Amino acid sequence: MSDELVELAKRRGFFFQAAEAYGGVSGFYVYGPEGAALKRNLEDSWRDRFQVQEGHREIEAPTVMPEPVFEASGHLDGFDDMLIECPECGESHRADHIIEDNTGIEDAESLPLDEIGALIAEHDLRCPNCDTELAGEPVEEFNLMFETTIGPGSGHPGYLRPETAQGIFVEFPRLKEYARNQLPFGITQVGRAYRNEISPRKSIVRVREFTQAELEHFIDPEEDEPPLHRVENAEVTLYSADQQNAEDGGHVRMTIGEAVEEGVITSDWVAYYLGVGQEWYERIGVDMERFRFRQHLAGERAHYASDCWDAEAEVDGDWIEITGNSYRSDYDLSKHGTYSDEDFTVFRQYDEPKVVERATVDPDMSYLGPEFGGVAGDIADALQTLAERDRTAFEGDEVTVEIDRESHAIPVEKTGFGVEEVTEAGEHITPHVVEPSIGIDRVLYTVFAHAYETDEVDDETRTRLALEPELAPTTVGVFPLMDKDGMGETARDIAGDLRARGLDVTYDDSGNIGRRYRRQDEVGTPFCVTVDYESLDDDAVTLRERDSTEQVRVAIADLPDILADLRSGDRAFANL
Ligand code: GAP
Repeated sequence: MSDELVELAKRRGFFFQAAEAYGGVSGFYVYGPEGAALKRNLEDSWRDRFQVQEGHREIEAPTVMPEPVFEASGHLDGFDDMLIECPECGESHRADHIIEDNTGIEDAESLPLDEIGALIAEHDLRCPNCDTELAGEPVEEFNLMFETTIGPGSGHPGYLRPETAQGIFVEFPRLKEYARNQLPFGITQVGRAYRNEISPRKSIVRVREFTQAELEHFIDPEEDEPPLHRVENAEVTLYSADQQNAEDGGHVRMTIGEAVEEGVITSDWVAYYLGVGQEWYERIGVDMERFRFRQHLAGERAHYASDCWDAEAEVDGDWIEITGNSYRSDYDLSKHGTYSDEDFTVFRQYDEPKVVERATVDPDMSYLGPEFGGVAGDIADALQTLAERDRTAFEGDEVTVEIDRESHAIPVEKTGFGVEEVTEAGEHITPHVVEPSIGIDRVLYTVFAHAYETDEVDDETRTRLALEPELAPTTVGVFPLMDKDGMGETARDIAGDLRARGLDVTYDDSGNIGRRYRRQDEVGTPFCVTVDYESLDDDAVTLRERDSTEQVRVAIADLPDILADLRSGDRAFANL
């Protein structure tokens, strides 16, 4: 982001580093009054597109979650970045970023640790802080989760959630009840996520506390299909793994329908959400010339994802990942089903009852009891679960089950293992999950940067944020030409009426009108209303549009409806 824009963000109250009075804390940002309003409008717009229009429901789960959740989810073991420390100044860096920033190599995070170390030596890469050689320094995995303790003492470790998604997955047993056990259904959540990033950077792009807007769409992978026809004509720019690996690979433009037909996007569900996303990014003012969907390379995918396409936007020559669109398969629900005592499946009814073979156990408790004491009952349950999942486990002389991370071997003859024929009305399946995961801060950064423009108005250079009216922190500035002869009262009455209509209004009576317009242009206010002497006679005002600077005369009585329509997009200024 250019220096002017960073300066604008600070000076006009969009976003700035937190706790500057104490030297600032790296990776933590404050949204000022303009930024907080822009962020709220962005979240509302996301809710409208991804939740309301799709018929999904939102939940709000805690941000601190106990350790077993992250053991099950894989975050304790697999949620790492590559850390290298400078031997001279002690500064920590992301080893993959040092490579990407100083060589032509893209997506270094998909490379194994030893290759990263070798590349640092081969390119003689140095500490970005003090220029000391980094060759030979250890490159280690660093877990990104913030750890805490729940309650006094250290007996109950907890973690600040690194993604809002886990708060949805963990509650699946209740959520499926709410959905009356009917797939598909989608649950959204907008909230804070925390990652102890090794080197936060680029303003709000890589921070340690940020906001995600996530949708977890639970589907039956064999029965459910997305309404692809709604988005199949959307034209998208794609950068597939094959294109990234090809020597002369570049972006391709095609419709979502063509991408599915030609096998560029293999999951219909992921394709559907790329289409929904494309529509939304366009609606919120992301410059489509600087936007693409990039498929993750195999080594780059998160531990839970079987395919992932990021939405990326270009700002100042860098491509920024603003959304991850993952096919998470049954990874998360299966894990939580295995690690917890709850049922993370749903019942899929067959069209006709079926006769099927079922593996059962009838453990010899007179053996298990004396042999395993207090865990004998758990072992019996675990044997039944194992028989249903993997009957080949009973093919040898012994079968092993794990209770509280301890393995127990049981002679197969004591398990009463057998296979019988039963008539079943249906089966339990673990739903699959499709997940568009939006980083609100990065989308806001993109929208802010793409909206920033300068042009010439009245022989002066003006700075304007061409924010969509739906997102603009203030919808309308209301100005009296001067605060005298009743113009101030009329303007204040108009501001009151517009606020009563639910619009964000700024009242300003200081400085000349041109200067007041510039102030609003700079924070992205799309419309301004000026009360002049004529208004006192004709009950009309001048309504000015930010981008065109066109002005029209509008009756005061019509203003609330007109401005509400202009904000929602139901009316265009050119048609007034
Ligand atoms: N639930 C899936 C998930 O969390 P992710 O790709 O790790 O996937 C999703 O994160 C989005 O969250 C990213 O596309 C990005 O926009 C945002 N995000 C991730 N880490 C971030 C950070 N340190 N600062 C700001 N935004 C971040």
